[in-house]
Amino acid sequence: MGRGLLSAAYVTSVFDHAKAPSDRRPTVAFAGRSNVGKSTLINGITEGKSIARVSSTPGKTQSLNFYIVEDRFYLVDLPGYGYAKVPVEIKKSWGKLVEGYLTTSPSLRGMVFLIDCRREVQPDDKMLLNWVTSRRLPFLIVVTKADKLTRNQLEQALRSFREVVLRDDDNGELTAFSSRTKLGHEEVVRWVRQVVA
Ligand code: GTP
Ligand code: MG
Repeated sequence: MGRGLLSAAYVTSVFDHAKAPSDRRPTVAFAGRSNVGKSTLINGITEGKSIARVSSTPGKTQSLNFYIVEDRFYLVDLPGYGYAKVPVEIKKSWGKLVEGYLTTSPSLRGMVFLIDCRREVQPDDKMLLNWVTSRRLPFLIVVTKADKLTRNQLEQALRSFREVVLRDDDNGELTAFSSRTKLGHEEVVRWVRQVVA
C-alpha cells in the first residue's frame, strides 16, 4: 500500500447528481472532452482488471461513474463533452449532470483535467477550467496520448499548454501521460494521493 498504482473498485454509476455517494469521503473528478482518454487513464492508474469502460466511440461514458480506493476516497469519471454527433437531449443532460455534481458536491477535493496533446484548447474546456480555477479547486492538467507525438513535438505542446491553461495558477500542475508507454502514471497517482490526504 502507498506505493505504485491505486487499488480501486467500481461502486456505482448515476445519472442524477443527487444520487452520488453521500458519505463525504474525499473525491477526485476526472474531466475532459469525449475520447480524450479519461476511462483509459483511470484503468492505467488502478491495479488489476480494467474497471472503467473504454471505447473508440466518443460519448461512451454518460453517467458519473464512482470508484472507491482503499475504502478511503473516490474517483469519479465524468462523461466527456464536446462530441458533435451527440444528440441535443444528451448534451443538455450532460450539462445538468456535470454542473449539478460540480456545484453541489461537498466532497470534491480536486480535478484531473485531460487534454489531448494534439488538440487545441476549446471553449468548452475553458469554461470548465474557469470554473475550477474560480473555485480555487486544485487541478492537474494531464496531456494525454503523448505517444502520438515525437519528443520535440511533445515538449512544444507542453510548453503551449503551460502557457494557455496553467498560466501562473498556484493550484494547478501539469503532466504528460501515455497509456501506451506508462508516462505520467506515477505523477497522477502521487497528485491524487496528495489532494485526498
Ligand atoms: P468518453 O467516455 O467518451 O468521454 O471518452 P474517454 O475520455 O473516457 O476516452 P477513452 O478512455 O474511452 O479512450 C478513447 C480512445 O483513446 C480509446 O480508443 C483509447 O484506446 C484511446 N487512448 C486513450 N489513451 C491513450 C493513450 O495514451 N495513447 C493512445 N495512443 N491512445 C489512447
Ligand atoms: Mg470514458
